[in-house]
Amino acid sequence: MQSGVRHFGLDVAPNGMSSARIAFSDREFRLISDRIKKLCGIHLPESKRMLVYSRLCRRLKALDLTSFTDYLELLDGKGADKELHFAINALTTNLTRFFREPHHFDHLRSLVIPNIFTRANKGREIRFWSAGCSSGEEPYSIAMTVVDAVPSLREFDFKVIATDIDTDMLAQSVKGEYHMREHDSIPEPMRSRSTVSISSEADRFAVDARIRDLVSFEKQNLIDDWSFEGPIDVIFCRNVMIYFEPDIQKSIVERMSDLLPEGGFLYIGHSENLSRITESVSLVGSTVYTKKA
Ligand SMILES: C[S@@+](CC[C@H](N)C(=O)[O-])C[C@H]1O[C@@H](n2cnc3c(N)ncnc32)[C@H](O)[C@@H]1O
Repeated sequence: MQSGVRHFGLDVAPNGMSSARIAFSDREFRLISDRIKKLCGIHLPESKRMLVYSRLCRRLKALDLTSFTDYLELLDGKGADKELHFAINALTTNLTRFFREPHHFDHLRSLVIPNIFTRANKGREIRFWSAGCSSGEEPYSIAMTVVDAVPSLREFDFKVIATDIDTDMLAQSVKGEYHMREHDSIPEPMRSRSTVSISSEADRFAVDARIRDLVSFEKQNLIDDWSFEGPIDVIFCRNVMIYFEPDIQKSIVERMSDLLPEGGFLYIGHSENLSRITESVSLVGSTVYTKKA
């Protein structure tokens, strides 16, 4: 075997038939991971090599390419934008579920929502942001919680802005339809009030239009300039920054903190920690931060 070239296990063509292996050299892996990091901040260490290989291999086969070097040339040539979208969509990790890390929703309901909606003048814009929303379960869980907790919601100008870099995920989010196996993750009475079954497909349900209307989805790369301004009262940025290196995490959190009003909240994922990253926010609960005065 050529030095620096590794061959991974049998890969499978899109038609399900096994096919010839495609070599993946250290250099090709490094060039692809550098490219992805520059574009969207995602750090792909050596331990992610097999994941990169398996996710992109199918694409190479579909494009009739026989080497990663040819693929890298495609990423630099004509039509590169379309292919870069594809590579980003293929390499993001989109795991999510309704009411994931439920203690955040308990905190939101009992401590944050009453405070914000009591202080706000009726008619004032109240904006929450789900940054890295994946297929939409997180922003819909936020909207369900607010609808359930604020009977007078119609008197406020409330919206959840939900953003992600992955256009496939955003398309799924906008549709708002999910497999029935996700239904039980939504606690009652929100499950009955905020979802409807889809008559044509027994194994799927949809998020009710009343909830969907409260959420607006848009493509947003967290490492680029953001298309909206503050104040944003509450930000959920959970299980996203874990893929970024500390300098990028720091810059994102400090920009988020600039958007928060005094007393605004930032929720992060259970395995993330900002204490050594920045002093712009202070820890007030389990993976819950508030903007420092
Ligand atoms: C693991 S999911 C987390 C979903 C949800 N926040 C949760 O905790 O359940 C991470 C999401 O971050 C998105 N993401 C990764 N890099 C991003 C970037 N640079 N800008 C915006 N979104 C990004 C991915 O596309 C993915 O959908």
